[in-house]
Amino acid sequence: MRILLLADVHGNRAALEAIREPHDICLFLGDLVDYGPDPGGCINWVKQHAHHSIRGNHDHGAAQNVDVQGVGGFRFLTACTRPPTVAALNPCQRRFLADLPTSLMLTLDGKRFLLVHATPRDPMDEYAPADPAFWAPRLAGLPVDYVCVGHTHQPYTLTVNGITVINPGSVGLSRDGNPRASYGVIDGNQTELKRIEYPVEQTVREVMASNLDPTAKQMLADIYRGGAYLGRWLKNGTAGLKSVAGEEVLARRNVPAGVESITPGDGAG
Ligand SMILES: [Fe+2]
Repeated sequence: MRILLLADVHGNRAALEAIREPHDICLFLGDLVDYGPDPGGCINWVKQHAHHSIRGNHDHGAAQNVDVQGVGGFRFLTACTRPPTVAALNPCQRRFLADLPTSLMLTLDGKRFLLVHATPRDPMDEYAPADPAFWAPRLAGLPVDYVCVGHTHQPYTLTVNGITVINPGSVGLSRDGNPRASYGVIDGNQTELKRIEYPVEQTVREVMASNLDPTAKQMLADIYRGGAYLGRWLKNGTAGLKSVAGEEVLARRNVPAGVESITPGDGAG
């Protein structure tokens, strides 16, 4: 059985549709929405193609219309993209997000799987690095062969005490310096992390044609093109740009400078 693992699509339908990997089962590991320009299209794709799906922190936030405050980094981008994301979804699509389970245990091909967006300890928000010492206590006693996660947008696999942890990386918003869409495949005992080119400029055009905050548009374009959280945006939507657009963003949002800075993996995954 060939199992396709997808995570962190984030409204980037061009990236999602570029994945043409032959498979028997498709598992979706959370974060269909926010950031990207086509959340509804991504929900429809997953509803049609994924056999099992779980809820990410962004799916939860959009389903519940959680208001995000943030002047920095990915939280700033979430704050900018959450309202248009919620507005773009029909009631059926929001219900789909709200009904996704936060974790799921399955047996496939004789192997036991736990699907969870972040970690078994904190299914939607904990940031899990590729560190066996971090994972060991979180895997202790779990009656599974595989734990499949997303959230960090950093692909990795590791095996700890007989359990294989797989993070396939992000389909739609890479953060590891490689702008190609990231996904994973489990085939028998083989696990593979894969990348594929997609029409990045199509996604950038859609973002640029939207009504998003201009700073958010430029941040997203940079991330799509570079596959990373680029240095000039390192601190927040204003860092490195305080003399350009940053003060404007802070002023519009009426938030004092320096209140929040954010780095990738701070929970805004
Ligand atoms: Fe994510």
